[in-house]
Amino acid sequence: MSNEQPYIVWTEELKTDFPTIDNQHKKIIDIANNLHSSLGIDNLQELIPIHLSQLKCYSSVHFRFEEKILQNHNYFLLNEHECLHDAYVGELIKLEKNFSELEKRFPNLPLYEEVEPFAWEVIKFVSQWWLHHILVEDKKYMDFLQKLADTYDSDS
Ligand SMILES: [Fe+2]
Repeated sequence: MSNEQPYIVWTEELKTDFPTIDNQHKKIIDIANNLHSSLGIDNLQELIPIHLSQLKCYSSVHFRFEEKILQNHNYFLLNEHECLHDAYVGELIKLEKNFSELEKRFPNLPLYEEVEPFAWEVIKFVSQWWLHHILVEDKKYMDFLQKLADTYDSDS
């Protein structure tokens, strides 16, 4: 059975001042929603590593893009922000490892009982991490860039 309502709903609140960043955020949210709508599907076990790898890959592309912008503007919290990004990728790598260990532990059994809670763990981690990151951490550089723009405006 597939779930029609997306688990994470995009709202205006999540918008940044950068359409490219918004599109990257949306793409990542789509992947998490996609995994959510795969709950209950027979081949969920095969889909989990695919989604984890997509989440890691698209997030890394996004992080590089965002960090470049912040670097160009001499964002004073750049190192802290990069650490948060690195920690997130580290968590995804840990989840990938945990999942392959789970598969090794139960090589011949259907994993329904194990797989579904694991998928939930991924969905919850990704949704909580991104909502917090966009609304709290990305908001900090938005404010910084806004102040920078205001300073330029008042200088001219
Ligand atoms: Fe960020």
